[in-house]
Order: sequence, then structure tokens, then C-alpha cells
Amino acid sequence: MLTDSDKKLVLQVWEKAIRHPDCGAEALERLFTTYPQTKTYFPHFDLHHGSDQVRNHGKKVLAALGNAVKSLGNLSQALSDLSDLHAYNLRVDPVNFKLLAQCFHVVLATHLGNDYTPEAHAAFDKFLSAVCTVLAEKYR
Ligand code: HEM
Repeated sequence: MLTDSDKKLVLQVWEKAIRHPDCGAEALERLFTTYPQTKTYFPHFDLHHGSDQVRNHGKKVLAALGNAVKSLGNLSQALSDLSDLHAYNLRVDPVNFKLLAQCFHVVLATHLGNDYTPEAHAAFDKFLSAVCTVLAEKYR
């Protein structure tokens, strides 16, 4: 559960994150490199460094997270369609959501540096965990 102070920190992190419009693609590139098994969901993508497909997909993921940041009080509703898509159509194993969350933390740390304080990291981790939980909700 995100406290009011967590929510404030999440908004602050997000404001800084979106100054780096490719940070979604960077997180995806880290995901594919660090956890190569995740590439099996994207057989139709060019996954090489600098790929336009990964860049565009990163923007979509970032936009979805931005939408979630705006709906911190109601994540289930905000992410409902995306949850359906990942569970029923794409059948992404939910363990992979956590792997992508880890990669986002690393990307945020590289861009935000000292601004990604332990408190900001903890709050953003709660947020990403909540997103992962909602994305995995429909598997039950
Ligand atoms: C598609 C968000 C995690 C695999 C998408 C789309 C969004 C999105 C916004 C595009 C939906 C559309 O075009 O209508 C997210 C978010 C995630 C997440 C917010 C977690 C924080 C993952 C993970 C995987 C994955 C971990 C697999 C390792 C896919 C695939 C597509 C997709 C295969 C379809 C790509 C295409 O063909 O264009 N996701 N995703 N997603 N996602 Fe995710």
C-alpha cells in the first residue's frame, strides 16, 4: 500500500524519469540482455541495440506507467486492459514483470543519480510492485 509520502515520492521520481524519454527502451534493453529468456516474447521484434521497435515499445511502456502514476489510487482500473492483454493474449509469465521492474530501477538510478535516494527507490519499488500485481491479477 502506498502511503501519501510514497505517492509524493513516486510523482517526484516520475517527473525526473520522463526527462529521459528513452528510459523505457533502456529498461527493455537491459531486460533482454540480463534475462535473455524474456526475448522469447518478442520473436517479431528486432532486439538489437538501437532498434526502432524497442525504442517505440519503450515509449508505449513508459506511457502506460505514466498513466498508472496518474491513477495511483486506482491502479486496477487504470491497467485493466493491459492486464487482459498480458494475461489472455500475450500470456506473459508474471515472473517477468518483476524482472522488468528491476531493470527500471537500474535505469532510474543511472539517470537520477543521487536523486534516486533509498526513500525514492523504496517508494518507486512499491509502485512498480503494485503495477506488477495488477498486471498479474487476471492469471488467477
Ligand atoms: C505490449 C506495457 C511488461 C511483453 C505492451 C504494451 C504496453 C505494455 C503498453 C502495448 C499494448 C498495446 O499496443 O496496446 C507493459 C508494462 C509492463 C510490461 C507497463 C510492466 C511494467 C511486459 C513483460 C513482457 C511483456 C515483462 C515480457 C517479457 C509484451 C509483449 C507485447 C507487450 C510481447 C506486445 C508487443 C507487440 O507486439 O507490439 N506492454 N508491459 N510486457 N508486452 Fe508488455
